[in-house]
Amino acid sequence: MRTKIVAGNWKMNKTLIEATQLTSEVMTLTGAEINGETKIVLCVPFPYLLSTKNQLGNSPLLVGAQNCSEHDSGAYTGEVSAPMLKSMGIPYVILGHSERRQYFGEDGKLLAKKVDKALANAIIPIFCCGEPLDVRENGTHETLVRTQVEASLFHLAADAIRKVVIAYEPVWAIGTGKTASTQQAQDMHAVIRKLLTTKYGEAVAQSIPILYGGSVKPDNAKELFECPDVDGGLVGGASLKARDFIEIVRGIN
Ligand code: PGA
Repeated sequence: MRTKIVAGNWKMNKTLIEATQLTSEVMTLTGAEINGETKIVLCVPFPYLLSTKNQLGNSPLLVGAQNCSEHDSGAYTGEVSAPMLKSMGIPYVILGHSERRQYFGEDGKLLAKKVDKALANAIIPIFCCGEPLDVRENGTHETLVRTQVEASLFHLAADAIRKVVIAYEPVWAIGTGKTASTQQAQDMHAVIRKLLTTKYGEAVAQSIPILYGGSVKPDNAKELFECPDVDGGLVGGASLKARDFIEIVRGIN
């Protein structure tokens, strides 16, 4: 059985007080009915990682970062490294989000280095891939997503890629209110899983969680999570409202 994961990507939102409040609301709403097998991860802005981790204490919720450097340390003003995240006990990091690719010029080669740094520090990368609208419209979306996965993950040995989580996030669905249909999500997840099978074999491919992201909401989460190759979600906007986020988490049970 693959691990089910629902991760909230808070992006660059919330002041410290608001972040504390949101975390506390999510903790209150995370009732006993939530399946203990599902990992719930709050990917908060860097400055709140430690306070959020401390606030979560021994609740079942986990904390994640939204990026890390491809370097270990040094003169890289403003950057945060994987060893720093490890030193704070952060178990997850989002890498290759489309906003990082688009606004910060992150490409497949750079992301391969970041993936290596995360894994070397025992941090699970949530590696994002997904096509923009024009690529979907010209029908080359599967080719692009395959290329993204190959470029940043296929240098890994089988025992390393087993530790990675993949998130398929069609760029045209992010923050737009437009969700991929369950068919579109399942089709792309199956393409990714087939690609993993070809390279690493059935057992490895079947063990890697593939999350869907892009306008996941309480009213579409359950349907998406029921797709055989969708193992959870990466949730942006709806993760900023405790009630919506927890409704989405319930959709996976
Ligand atoms: P969204 O964002 O849920 O607001 O579409 C998803 C993401 O960017 O991870």
